[in-house]
Amino acid sequence: MEVLKTRHCILYAMTKPVSIGIDLGTSGVKIIALDPTGYSVAESSATYPLLTPQPGWTEQNPLDWVAGVKQGLRDLTRQLEGKFTPIAIGVAGQMHGAVFLDDQFNVIRPAPLWNDQRTSAACEEIEAAIPRLELIQRTGNPAVTGFQLPKLLWLRSVEPENFARVRHVLLPKDYLNFVLTGQIAADPSDASGVGALNLAKLEWDLDILGALKLDSSLFPSLQPSHSVVGQLSQEWAELTGLPQGIPVVAGAGDNAGAQIGLGVSSAKPKLGSVSLGTSGVIVVPLPEAKAEPHGRVHLFCHADGGYFFLGCTLSAAGSLQWFRDTLAQGVPFDTLMLEAAAVPSGSDGLTFMPYLAGERSPHLNPHLRGSWLGLSLAHTRGHMTRAILEGVAFSLRETLEVMNPIAKAEQLLSVGGGTRSNTWLGIIGNALGLPLEKPALEEGPARGAAILGLVGAGVFSSVAHALEVTAPSAQRIEIVADSGLEAAYQQYKKGFAAVQGFSG
Ligand code: XUL
Repeated sequence: MEVLKTRHCILYAMTKPVSIGIDLGTSGVKIIALDPTGYSVAESSATYPLLTPQPGWTEQNPLDWVAGVKQGLRDLTRQLEGKFTPIAIGVAGQMHGAVFLDDQFNVIRPAPLWNDQRTSAACEEIEAAIPRLELIQRTGNPAVTGFQLPKLLWLRSVEPENFARVRHVLLPKDYLNFVLTGQIAADPSDASGVGALNLAKLEWDLDILGALKLDSSLFPSLQPSHSVVGQLSQEWAELTGLPQGIPVVAGAGDNAGAQIGLGVSSAKPKLGSVSLGTSGVIVVPLPEAKAEPHGRVHLFCHADGGYFFLGCTLSAAGSLQWFRDTLAQGVPFDTLMLEAAAVPSGSDGLTFMPYLAGERSPHLNPHLRGSWLGLSLAHTRGHMTRAILEGVAFSLRETLEVMNPIAKAEQLLSVGGGTRSNTWLGIIGNALGLPLEKPALEEGPARGAAILGLVGAGVFSSVAHALEVTAPSAQRIEIVADSGLEAAYQQYKKGFAAVQGFSG
């Protein structure tokens, strides 16, 4: 650097550059600072409330997100002071939410979230206007209650006075980008969770919006995830201590962001991921927009210019948590896992259906309910636990089988709290029939967002280049082959046929 004109340039010369990655989650925000080798040097977090004003409704106040991000950024800046210089910001966020803004960019009402269930009538309205199979072919998904588009129709029919004021509808992380920069944009990975993005053309589907009598100007223009949306405003520089004017990139939906953080890319479609958190998520990337014809798994845009399938078992570790909290209070998870490990594969004929909160993939049915089938006097708590571990694995297998004819992974990176159990990993590996690898780092969507920031700042020439440098190393997990699970899986499928009409 020949001419060091500004304070930031001088700092840049003396301290190490870092990109700030923000994960705008549902329970809180997580922020990390990543150096150009992919090493995280600082981390902060803040929480905000979840509002549940009616059964089935979930909302958050966008201004609570803003307050949490401000606090988290201040905390992070203090950690970086004198040692590191922020050069870019990337945000990855919870998908599908709707931030309704008026003509002065004021928030009109709390934002309904991805897991909000108020929109069944709106989903019917969408599929009445655009036949389901055509909708799937155009957008990669059927009408899904959690997606953003039905939320807009819900507002129009239930709160018409609010709808009349709406000039912009933004996804959560796009609202945060607006707050940071004053610019409005969306990236394809998050926009593909709206329900109105034509995935092949990568533009808002005007036929769909026209059929629903929605003005396309409500939606922001699209930019690649790594491209710069705007610069950090003076106000936010003063509020947080970050350098004014650093670029903020378009960012990604949290799932795409997490994959970027893991190095899962549509350029390497044989490597996917399986995550065992509250919900269980399988991701398999693919280079082109080829939807599953019946929409049984989601097809979303990736943040690297490609696409990925995402299948979600809503209650994965969540099923185990529920079991512990209600039927095994105070028993350590390690004890439950040891008991489960002592039970033979197939749980001596006990089958668990993990539909405690309805199911997304591959059944997409919010009315399904969970059950143990085949309980007998011979079964113990260990059987019940093992049946839960197996039932979740079988649900993930059903999802993988739906993806396989279109996109077939050959190995999966395994992440999330549930993967701390070797017993569960063994069951998952055998049920899915794929080798599993454990990545050295699990920093989630914030890491991916920071990597996109590094590309936006010009540290890397492309997302592909960034992934070559930053993808974490991974270690193969030894899995003992277990042929006993196959019969149990067939039993599970029979069980589904028996319970699918039972909605509790
Ligand atoms: C994906 C989905 C969730 C949210 C919440 O379809 O609904 O993963 O992105 O984080």
